[in-house]
Amino acid sequence: MTDRPLAGRIAFVTGSGRGLGRAMADKLAALGADVAIHDRDAAQPAKYGEASGLDEVAREIGRHGGRVTAVLGTIGDPAAVDAMSRTIAAELGSVDILVNCAGGDIGAAGGKPEPNNALDVALEDIQAETTNNLIGTMLVTQAFVRPMRDRRSGCVVNIASAAAHMGHTPEVVYSTLKAAVVHYTRCLASELRPYGVRVNAVSPGPTKTARFQATRKTDPQKMRANGSLDRYAEPEEIADAVAFLAGPQARFVNGQILRVDGGLTLYPG
Ligand SMILES: NC(=O)c1ccc[n+]([C@@H]2O[C@H](COP(=O)([O-])OP(=O)(O)OC[C@H]3O[C@@H](n4cnc5c(N)ncnc54)[C@H](O)[C@@H]3O)[C@@H](O)[C@H]2O)c1
Repeated sequence: MTDRPLAGRIAFVTGSGRGLGRAMADKLAALGADVAIHDRDAAQPAKYGEASGLDEVAREIGRHGGRVTAVLGTIGDPAAVDAMSRTIAAELGSVDILVNCAGGDIGAAGGKPEPNNALDVALEDIQAETTNNLIGTMLVTQAFVRPMRDRRSGCVVNIASAAAHMGHTPEVVYSTLKAAVVHYTRCLASELRPYGVRVNAVSPGPTKTARFQATRKTDPQKMRANGSLDRYAEPEEIADAVAFLAGPQARFVNGQILRVDGGLTLYPG
């Protein structure tokens, strides 16, 4: 096994201007992949102080020596997704590894919906969450995976959440949509099985991204590496799982959901 098992591969990680997506794009680049990074707009990486903009993130990821290109746009907008796929094809070539990471508990006004429970959440927030998490994932998948089906090679890693595997409130719409991402993963894996294209998902537990820490009250005990698995994840721990599923060691792993949550969700389904 070489230390650059993804050399010659082209990866696209949505929502990689910051947070988990950035850690995933960085990891795939470190393993030898050329990487297309993406965000809704060029300012998103600066929102929680992680970088001055998407250009800086591209430069940082470029230190691994591979090619890096950056694209912008909302994943729920078909025209934007079409433009992204054209740009990436022209600048890097055909994508071999698609990581659908963009998403989150983002309502119509751009932050968390308020109220955010099942019976009171506003219709416009339900619609925005669905576009941000499920429809966007489906549109990006259609654009980037049809060529994989034609070439009979490639793989997809969808980012779900521990919240997909248990009933909880608030964040009801977000949790429901991440459960849909889990099931979409299985359906897509089934559809693409004859073509040799693998589709898996990672369900992260609560993870110490800048956004996570800025937008919620965190438990100081769980912030520390205290010798216990009852703690928040580091972004790199989630990125390692994505790299495994995207790499040659997972060549016969298909349709699976890998929960990377320190054992937070120890039940079936
Ligand atoms: N951090 C956690 O604790 C955690 C836990 C479970 C799952 N997740 C999931 O992991 C992913 C990344 O989370 P994060 O903590 O890094 O959050 P983040 O907000 O820092 O990163 C999300 C990125 O996706 C982009 N994005 C969101 N919606 C988009 C859209 N509609 N179009 C284009 N870009 C869009 C954002 O601008 C941002 O760059 C999300 O799907 C999130 O739901 C995170």
